[in-house]
Amino acid sequence: MGTWRPAARGVAGAPFCLYDRQVIRVAPPIRHPAVSLSAAPEPPAAATFLDDLGRFDALGTPTRQVLADGIPYLINEYWTARQRQAHVLHEISYRACFKPQLPAFFISRLTAPGDAVLDPFMGRGTTPLQAALMQRRPVGSDINPLSILLTRPRLAPPDADAVAAALRRVTWHRPGDMPQDLLAFYHPRTLSQLCALRHWLLDQAPPDAATDWIRMVALNRLTGHSPGFFSVYTLPPNQAASVAAQLRINARRGQVPPLRDVADIILRKSRQLLKDGGPPPHPPANLATGKAHELSHVADASIALVVTSPPFLDVVQYRQDNALRCWFAGIDAAAVRIDMHRTEPAWLEMVRATLQELARVVRPGGHIAFEVGEVRGGKMLLERSVWQAAYGLPFARLAVMVNAQSFTKTANCWGVRNNTKGTNSNRIVLLQRM
Ligand SMILES: C[S@@+](CC[C@H](N)C(=O)[O-])C[C@H]1O[C@@H](n2cnc3c(N)ncnc32)[C@H](O)[C@@H]1O
Repeated sequence: MGTWRPAARGVAGAPFCLYDRQVIRVAPPIRHPAVSLSAAPEPPAAATFLDDLGRFDALGTPTRQVLADGIPYLINEYWTARQRQAHVLHEISYRACFKPQLPAFFISRLTAPGDAVLDPFMGRGTTPLQAALMQRRPVGSDINPLSILLTRPRLAPPDADAVAAALRRVTWHRPGDMPQDLLAFYHPRTLSQLCALRHWLLDQAPPDAATDWIRMVALNRLTGHSPGFFSVYTLPPNQAASVAAQLRINARRGQVPPLRDVADIILRKSRQLLKDGGPPPHPPANLATGKAHELSHVADASIALVVTSPPFLDVVQYRQDNALRCWFAGIDAAAVRIDMHRTEPAWLEMVRATLQELARVVRPGGHIAFEVGEVRGGKMLLERSVWQAAYGLPFARLAVMVNAQSFTKTANCWGVRNNTKGTNSNRIVLLQRM
């Protein structure tokens, strides 16, 4: 038996203890719990998944196993951004997206080609796209209607020549109203081109892969801080400054929006994203816009694996970020109700409702990898809320896996602050449908 030492405080403020690290390394591997797999073929390696995680040392460090507040933690560097280059199609920005290596890790270990992989908080579509790249069925949804516009085109992309041909069909010089306040971001001729493209996409373009693709790339090029974007220097592309904030940025930097060629930027970005082609043949995608606890587009017991990451309390102001993108896509931003959960009980309720719905759609023996990041400087351990939310539902709670990246390695990565803001480690609650 190891010695115990007092550590941080638990989620509800109750003290909890951690094993001393020296003791952790001799802890026995966690055994896979007995669950009924009779209703579905067992996915490859499912029965040995936790043992594999316990023995994992592919990146040179052994897994540490910790019991904290009755929750088994598995801690290691399981993937890195450098480890294997992700497919270039992933390279579009979105707030709080995870690295493709995260879903790839679970998809490769817990599913077979043809299986359905779901993300009910899909964001830019990292999980569905990775599923398609690995020949699984991409399934996803998000309450943000921009999400499907960013995800769908990359699952079945056109080739760059089709994009170029479609761009030649746009009437670039059409008289019409321009929202004058957007001149804070754009040169007048750039804004005129943008309005022309918007009109073409909303009212004239054929509903095909090239149209879908051009809208996706344009949404991603609206604002940013290099000449690869349509705008003058502003916040990074996954955030959006208000008009008033942009006017202040312009005054502070002494800048006026330069002329940018919208079609040229779209084509250049398209050629970059399409340089390695699209995903290989894969089962058809099933995407929707909607709440994670109402997955009416997903059949009962149809999902082999969920890899997902909900909003972390009120860390990201998606609504403000979306305003310009919604304008361009013709979406009423005011009607987009992206939940903000300011308190942990409210957040926990949302997670519980989501897990209840996931219990319906995940097949017996299927898995959930539910990722939460570090919030409030590591003082709040959201994985414990997820663990708690799964209590009483038909899931075996397997473990919490922590992908400790090199810059958090020296910190106590299961609950002690390390003086950095935002998300800086992946904590993944692993569940298996009984
Ligand atoms: C952390 S992001 C997910 C990012 C995603 N993993 C990616 O790689 O792009 C959380 C997402 O949850 C969405 N969201 C917030 N509340 C939701 C709800 N109740 N139901 C479905 N989606 C929701 C947000 O729009 C956001 O896209």
